[in-house]
Amino acid sequence: MTLKFGPADYDRAAEFVRARTGRQDLRPSEGGPVGLVLGSGLNSLAEAVEEAEAVSYEEIPHFSTSTAPGHAGRLIVGRLSGQTVVAMQGRNHFYEGYTAEEITFPIRVMRRLGVGRLILTNAAGGVNPAFRAGDLMLIVDHLNFVGMAGHNPLIGPNAQAFGTRFPSMTHAYARVLRRAALEAAQELGITLRQGVYAFLAGPNFETPAEVRYLRLVGADAVGMSTVPEALVAVHAGIEVLGISTITNVAVDQLDSDKETSEEEVMETGRIVVPRLTALLTAVLERL
Ligand code: HPA
Repeated sequence: MTLKFGPADYDRAAEFVRARTGRQDLRPSEGGPVGLVLGSGLNSLAEAVEEAEAVSYEEIPHFSTSTAPGHAGRLIVGRLSGQTVVAMQGRNHFYEGYTAEEITFPIRVMRRLGVGRLILTNAAGGVNPAFRAGDLMLIVDHLNFVGMAGHNPLIGPNAQAFGTRFPSMTHAYARVLRRAALEAAQELGITLRQGVYAFLAGPNFETPAEVRYLRLVGADAVGMSTVPEALVAVHAGIEVLGISTITNVAVDQLDSDKETSEEEVMETGRIVVPRLTALLTAVLERL
């Protein structure tokens, strides 16, 4: 197996973003810029970014275009809460037909831009029976079903320029960032659930039997993203914070009249954005 991208490809994309945005602080430095990935229905969070420069994914060398609904496909670079941020308005998913390596290309570009801390957001179905649509969940750990099926972005010759062959995932979601998120939530009076995120390929939503199975094996939420990006980030030495918006309660009974739909996911996402924006703004202030 050969990799599609090498160090020169990541460098080229990073240099393009640096040149296009004219931001010279997009380099490894003390603290460094903070990366942000905005999931389904969460694009508008980027409107809070000041001095914003937008770069379309289509223009950036080797970036894949975003085909998923609610994903604008733009990189927004600017300032938020006193931090330089590199925000992805929309991401690529395995279900779109991209490889794990392609999905995570932007994460290594962020590393080249000096990103040392990454905030991953997503829309997810609630599996924990206590969760309600509109809840926010701090990701404390994950279950990588797609990885178990052999699709892991770290498979292949190790990208030695970024990290080691066998990276530990014991603390994949950095304790210091989890603490910052919990403190920020408490200060704002925002309820922040905590739980394990299960990554499935999609694009179909889960069957009731799959939802009951996920609950049995310890999942609190289920979604179709985030985990490949977290793996590549941790491999590259980036600290990761993951926040799921519970956009719907996953249906676990065959005789239920309820069905999960894209509309429900998008609508709840829109409703949650102000709360998520407040939370992330407060987290950034603490970094
Ligand atoms: N399942 C999988 N992915 C999702 C869901 C869900 O119920 N809701 C939002 N993304």
